[in-house]
Amino acid sequence: MDAPNRFADMPISGGLDRILTIELVRVTERAAVAAARLRGRGDEMAADQAAVDAMRSELNRLPIRGTVVIGEGERDEAPMLYIGEEVGTGEGPAVDIALDPLEGTTICAKNLPNALAVVAIAEKGSLLNAPDVYMDKIAIGPGYPAGTVDLDLSPAENIERLAKAKGVLVDEITACILDRPRHEKLIEAVRATGAAIRLIGDGDVAGVIHTTDPAETGIDIYIGSGGAPEGVLAAAALRCIGGQMQGRLILDTPEKVARAARMGIEDPSRVYQAEDMAKGDVLFAATGVTDGNMLAGVKFGKDSIRTHTIVLRSSTRTVREIKARHQDMDKFGPES
Ligand code: FBP
Repeated sequence: MDAPNRFADMPISGGLDRILTIELVRVTERAAVAAARLRGRGDEMAADQAAVDAMRSELNRLPIRGTVVIGEGERDEAPMLYIGEEVGTGEGPAVDIALDPLEGTTICAKNLPNALAVVAIAEKGSLLNAPDVYMDKIAIGPGYPAGTVDLDLSPAENIERLAKAKGVLVDEITACILDRPRHEKLIEAVRATGAAIRLIGDGDVAGVIHTTDPAETGIDIYIGSGGAPEGVLAAAALRCIGGQMQGRLILDTPEKVARAARMGIEDPSRVYQAEDMAKGDVLFAATGVTDGNMLAGVKFGKDSIRTHTIVLRSSTRTVREIKARHQDMDKFGPES
């Protein structure tokens, strides 16, 4: 007879999460190393595929009954880590998983800053099942009064309110915005306030996370539209570190409204707070693929590989930075 499974139905807050916190680091480390081997080669797809393969095989070693809710796409378009795919050993707590094995595929292909391997885990039913559409986002770090910024206010109002809450002049605020033609008016409006803008080519999960440590990253606020799945991942991170974030899906065609409805979204114009996108206990890990403002990229040495990971837990708000040195897996075989 099989031994009883002591992890079955254990709530994620019941102790297993402390183990999972560290286990999760291996998941993003492996994906980041795999992607980093293809850094700067101009091949987005190859780097992404390598990260997906590595993340999937490491996730399948975790003692969880995981369901991918934010993944590589719908089942028919993504052969692996598709939405609805079950991962883990099949023993342990039932959890929702949001992941992006390579956040910033173009950044990685061009070897530019801030490509990450990212994963978040929460109790089953706790992560927003967001369709792959755009989301309007606004985010600031911790330490400001609730409601300091609001998606329904103008960019100028948000910047002014943030400057006031921070006790600085507006021209001391820096906003992070994705460099896209659709943001032309937003960029103009922010510049008109006197605030500075950090334009990024890609990678708004990092952009949002960077607001949590302006002294280190130089970024006070993230504004603009980006992927909704990336919005859920960023919300999961903010739930753990603190900070405020709002997101509203951009459902501008009947097809997108219908797709969202099939995923359980009844109010297409709802503004989600970070707490609505990632509820309850959340674990989050990100490993740098390329060097960035918060995380160093993977470094390949003669006999070892160095990784830099941030791993977060909402229930304790612990922020761990893990710098690891791995024996070169190609030379020495996989970690056991
Ligand atoms: P990928 O890693 O899938 O390439 O996403 C990169 C990214 O910049 C995200 O960070 C962001 O949310 C999204 O793309 C923005 O989408 P778009 O490039 O269509 O503006």
